[in-house]
Amino acid sequence: MIEKIAVIGSGMMGGAIIKSLIKGKIPAASITAVDIQADKLKEFVDIGVLTSNNNAKAALEADIIFVIVKPGDVGKVLKEISNGIKGKLVISAAATIPLSYLVKNVPVETKIVRIMPNLCVMVQAAYTAYCCSTNVTKTDKENVKELLGMMGLCEEVDEKYMDAITAVSGSGPGYMSIIIEALTYAGLKVGLPRNIALNCAAQTVMGTGKLVTELRTEPSKIKDMTTTPGGTTIEAIYQIEKSKIRTAMIRAVEEATKKSQSIREKLDLS
Ligand SMILES: NC(=O)c1ccc[n+]([C@@H]2O[C@H](COP(=O)([O-])OP(=O)(O)OC[C@H]3O[C@@H](n4cnc5c(N)ncnc54)[C@H](OP(=O)(O)O)[C@@H]3O)[C@@H](O)[C@H]2O)c1
Repeated sequence: MIEKIAVIGSGMMGGAIIKSLIKGKIPAASITAVDIQADKLKEFVDIGVLTSNNNAKAALEADIIFVIVKPGDVGKVLKEISNGIKGKLVISAAATIPLSYLVKNVPVETKIVRIMPNLCVMVQAAYTAYCCSTNVTKTDKENVKELLGMMGLCEEVDEKYMDAITAVSGSGPGYMSIIIEALTYAGLKVGLPRNIALNCAAQTVMGTGKLVTELRTEPSKIKDMTTTPGGTTIEAIYQIEKSKIRTAMIRAVEEATKKSQSIREKLDLS
């Protein structure tokens, strides 16, 4: 059973996590939003979430602790909460920070989960990958899956994939925004009113994602299903293929993966 949850760092991602947990039927009063910025906590008071600026106390009183601060602040937070997390689940969303560092900076009995969500947590449509320290039990994993499931799709992965996942889905909403923007401009170019062009573009991207995930359809099949001989789609695909959009996406993700690795190398993770 999931009991008390503390979310340390209630900014963009921490805030979205709190709201998803509430939508997922975790009672607001069993969540404590924690942040050093008092103004970030105001909106949570209004929805019945407990708030605090005391990391150590919030962690001590919780059963599960989300650490959702920037990578450079993780070490400091772990030090502060160290006395109150023995035997508990600590879930970190910090990009690039490996399990080995997290494990090294908490009491041995602490159970650590490293997650990589994306901004789509805001609408409970995230992709969240997670990996666990070796002492995380089957029951803990069930709890983690239940919580992350409230934010969208989640799956356990080998930690070696985390940099690549950060590059594909962690940063992914940024790339998809470019696609939606481009499709919106395309709509404007052929005379659509702006709001219609934007709705057309955004809903088409979202629906296509659902076709892949819910129907388990290969993208190439969707492409075939929309392409009739001599029709409009093949005319458009012919133009798209000339633009080398696949190469651009592959290069972008390759560079983002390398960046994730190099950021870690530059952090002081001793
Ligand atoms: N945003 C995304 O799309 C995304 C996606 C995947 C993973 N993540 C990960 O999620 C984490 C948070 O990112 P974010 O975008 O939500 O950042 P954010 O909006 O800056 O939120 C972090 C919050 O934590 C606060 N904070 C800093 N130090 C603290 C401390 N010692 N105790 C309590 N609160 C503290 C920050 O206050 P200050 O502003 O004063 O520092 C800020 O309000 C990062 O590690 C990031 O890698 C983010």
